[in-house]
Amino acid sequence: MTLRMTAFTLFPKLFEPFLEEGVFARGIRKSLISFDTVNPKDFAADARRTVDGHPFGGGDGMVLLPEVCHAALDSVAGVNTKVIHVSPAGKVFNNAWARRLAAETEHIVFLCGRYAGFDERFVKNRADYELSIGDFVLSGGEPAAVCMMDSIARFVPGVLGNTVSANADSFEDGLLEAPQYTHPADFAGQPVPAVLLSGNHAEIARYRRKQQLRRTALQRPDLVLRIWDSLSRSEQKLAEDVWKTGLK
Ligand SMILES: C[S@@+](CC[C@H](N)C(=O)[O-])C[C@H]1O[C@@H](n2cnc3c(N)ncnc32)[C@H](O)[C@@H]1O
Repeated sequence: MTLRMTAFTLFPKLFEPFLEEGVFARGIRKSLISFDTVNPKDFAADARRTVDGHPFGGGDGMVLLPEVCHAALDSVAGVNTKVIHVSPAGKVFNNAWARRLAAETEHIVFLCGRYAGFDERFVKNRADYELSIGDFVLSGGEPAAVCMMDSIARFVPGVLGNTVSANADSFEDGLLEAPQYTHPADFAGQPVPAVLLSGNHAEIARYRRKQQLRRTALQRPDLVLRIWDSLSRSEQKLAEDVWKTGLK
């Protein structure tokens, strides 16, 4: 089955480079994913192709017109479509969302806002989810949609190829990934940790798990606290030591 992704956007050209190279483009070439766009401007009721209006109650920026947006969305949405309002006011998108959307969905429309965003009545009537990529404001939803599309594509079976799996990346076991090293074994007087050259897979796995915990405790204590009860006592102790000393 092909997972169809549609960007609802006033600026379809912004997506073009992303479709030419990399993992997402490979997924398209293999027909595992497909991509198309719909532009609300093509559904405007007047010759000037007006898509926005001043906000009721005053305020900065223009708001996208609900009738035009409804018509544009109707032209691409079907019964199996899930609609995501890409918005800083949404829940924060993460790997769990990406995995779920890749597994459960046949067609996703990403509503990319511009200016002051969409009329709330359009969002309330038509969006299944409101998702943000973080606590900062972009000038449009297109870069956020690209982030979500790329991340969802990684969970579509076959997109990453046989040798790579999204399951080994950061977040999949609740922690950030351990640091990675490649050749040479000694770079500018900095040798790679000896255990990684030992060939002892059990030791390497233990070492990596410790590094994951250390890094996550330092950078993202919120993630460690989320899985606290599933950690062994010695892992909890390691995290507590990092928090006490701030050691790397
Ligand atoms: C200038 S923003 C509008 C911000 C809106 N007035 C607010 O304060 O919530 C224009 C569009 O960019 C997108 N956008 C901005 N920041 C985003 C974020 N962190 N995550 C997802 N989309 C974002 C949304 O689609 C939004 O409609």
